[in-house]
Amino acid sequence: MYEERFDKRKFDELRPMEAETGIIPNANGSARFKIGNTEAYAAVYGPQEVKPKHLEKVDRAIIMCRYDMMPFSVPDRAKPGFDRRDMEISEVITNSLNRAVILEEMPRSMIDVRVYVSQADAGTRCASLTAAAMACADAGLPMRDLVAAVAAGKIGDSICLDLTKEEEDFHEGGATDVPIGFLPSKNEIVLLQLDGKVSREDLKKIIEIGKIGAAKIYELQKAALKRRFSNESQS
Ligand code: CDP
Repeated sequence: MYEERFDKRKFDELRPMEAETGIIPNANGSARFKIGNTEAYAAVYGPQEVKPKHLEKVDRAIIMCRYDMMPFSVPDRAKPGFDRRDMEISEVITNSLNRAVILEEMPRSMIDVRVYVSQADAGTRCASLTAAAMACADAGLPMRDLVAAVAAGKIGDSICLDLTKEEEDFHEGGATDVPIGFLPSKNEIVLLQLDGKVSREDLKKIIEIGKIGAAKIYELQKAALKRRFSNESQS
């Protein structure tokens, strides 16, 4: 049984969030997204020449994304180097961005996306994807929509939004974690993973609660981008 959340949040409540764009002067686009104690920075370079050349596509751009955790982002110092987990997360973020960015408008080019997690308390792939989508918009890339991503799941008997690491590790009754990425205005899911076991009915409820959370994240993303572009037009 999990009747009250460790941090006293309601079951459908997100952790406190912060979002900003245009924070890295040397990148074409950048963003920071923080949700509770999970924080991600994203930098976008391009569209630029494809290197190595053989990866070039004549009819569209390619996205190359790399996710990394800073050594101090977790209690036990994250190991340096690109491990299987980093590889998997880089790939799922790339796949999601491929659905959001209009690649056909930038043939023969490459978009390099770098995401760094500075603090990790679960949900880093979702925070990274949320930041990466904002950074793509900040770079002025043509996009079908932003991606707003959040993990939801089931802790004990309770469907929960935006799990913490402490909740993910809940043993009594088990924990299921479902990272979900949405194109909110298109009502499309571009990321859906499942770590654990749930019934089909519960999965529907988890996606529904995730969608409500993503709508709030989307508002924050749009507000951050509006702030950035209105500041730019004033200067
Ligand atoms: O971060 P996310 O939930 O997307 O992916 P995960 O692989 O399920 O990792 C869950 C959490 O485990 C991370 O957010 C970190 O809080 C923690 N973790 C860690 O403490 N040390 C690592 N080397 C990797 C993850």
